[in-house]
Amino acid sequence: MSPLEKASETGLLFAKQSEKAHKKKLGQYFTSSLVAKFMASLVDEIPGKRLRICDPGAGHGILSCALVERLVNLGAEEIFIDVFEVDKTILSLLESNLTYLREFYSKQSIVIKFRVFNENFLIWANKNYLELRESYDYVISNPPYFKLNKGDENIQAVSFLLEGVTNIYAGFIAMGIKLTKISGETIFIVPRSFSSGLYFKKLRQFFFRETRLKHVHLFQSRTEAFKEDKVLQETLIFKANNREGVRTKITTSEGIKDLGFTCKSFNYNISELIELDSDHKILHLPTSQEDYEVIKMLKTLKYRLIDHQIKVSTGRVVAFRSKNNLKTDNADNRYVPLIWNFNVKKYSINWPVIQDKKPQYIDRGNNKILVPCQNYVVQRRFSAKEDKSRIVCAPFVGKEYKCVEVGFENKTNFMYKLGGEMSIDLVYGLCVLFNSSIYDRYFRIINGNINVSATEMANMPIPCLQIINYLGAMYIENENIVFNEELIKTILFSGKAEKIIS
Ligand SMILES: C[S@@+](CC[C@H](N)C(=O)[O-])C[C@H]1O[C@@H](n2cnc3c(N)ncnc32)[C@H](O)[C@@H]1O
Repeated sequence: MSPLEKASETGLLFAKQSEKAHKKKLGQYFTSSLVAKFMASLVDEIPGKRLRICDPGAGHGILSCALVERLVNLGAEEIFIDVFEVDKTILSLLESNLTYLREFYSKQSIVIKFRVFNENFLIWANKNYLELRESYDYVISNPPYFKLNKGDENIQAVSFLLEGVTNIYAGFIAMGIKLTKISGETIFIVPRSFSSGLYFKKLRQFFFRETRLKHVHLFQSRTEAFKEDKVLQETLIFKANNREGVRTKITTSEGIKDLGFTCKSFNYNISELIELDSDHKILHLPTSQEDYEVIKMLKTLKYRLIDHQIKVSTGRVVAFRSKNNLKTDNADNRYVPLIWNFNVKKYSINWPVIQDKKPQYIDRGNNKILVPCQNYVVQRRFSAKEDKSRIVCAPFVGKEYKCVEVGFENKTNFMYKLGGEMSIDLVYGLCVLFNSSIYDRYFRIINGNINVSATEMANMPIPCLQIINYLGAMYIENENIVFNEELIKTILFSGKAEKIIS
């Protein structure tokens, strides 16, 4: 049995016996042997025959086993491994898997030496930074992921590299990159969430300053990578190094079984995937020629909502905090409409919908969380399973509601005009734009989640005001234009918009 097979088998047994709460607390979700093998296969040449590898959050050591197998195949003769693991209960398994690895390769006259650190990786690396910095040829990891609360010691430990880390995996990435030699490589499997969104903005800035992204692998199926533990996270695998070259490879597979040779593969210049001089450094991950065309097209649109004095906010009514202010009817006229996520449909607000659990009215008393009843675009922050599109926008036309204020529930976003009110054309124009398949595709390229944040909407490239208004006016005249995506594309990207409009 190969060391990888042994690690895989023993890891499965360990995971079966360990409590759900234990796994959750430590972020202990193991990599399957096929994924570990694939991650190791991303190494395509070695810088020498003596190599040092680091496996932070090592668990049962499966990544070390897979990587050693790969490095030996590429000609390595002596490999030093440092593994870091906080969980005492897995240490003996980790030791025994690494001992097996050492014995296995000693028969082939390959020298394997390892050190097991029962330490918090971030804190240990912080304390020993001068010694560990740029000391490993490979840092390979499936880091834990869980949110960190303010004041957490892990945030402190990486703050000298990256400020305000909100999830432990971001700390592992930053530290991992810094511990990798200039000639080395960093290979991680992580949630896709770091590719966009405000929480990981600093990490992206750090990442694209410190290293070069050379390969990203995406799983098309949300549940596949950590099937055993039913982790509903979209994950990606990346390889980064500082070697010459600006090309980035993107590969995709449906799941685990089709990993490897049958993966679809695309090559891009890194500047096609991120705007290097932008602040947000959103990572675009196109997985088809169509995706690539959409990125190219949207790049030509130079405006953002704020350029048109439009802001996006998240609904201010948090239903469970306002429980006592909600009402299912407005019998005594003290209440105003409350718009929930489920009321928002593409191009229409379906309100009121009579049901007990989601009252459709809110008390006017608490007007800090209400907004004036005027024109808005309301958008679902969370698309439902049955939604074909991730972006679902509806016009909220104030005069149709005959009230002074309105409440938007926290699972919606709403767009409004600073110091004024959006015209009806503008409201409908934005709906046509964002509900179009082009924007839906664009959103999927930058974000693997079902939630759409206000920041992401605010950063969407959009055309000039005139074109948005024109789209809105067209919709009002004939709703069927939304089915004519070619016409919308022509208006947005042909450069003939001015002609069409005039
Ligand atoms: C997602 S699991 C990955 C395990 C293994 N490397 C694999 O790929 O299957 C992350 C591991 O990191 C460990 N861990 C959590 N926090 C840690 C920390 N601060 N330092 C070191 N290890 C940590 C957990 O106990 C868990 O075993």
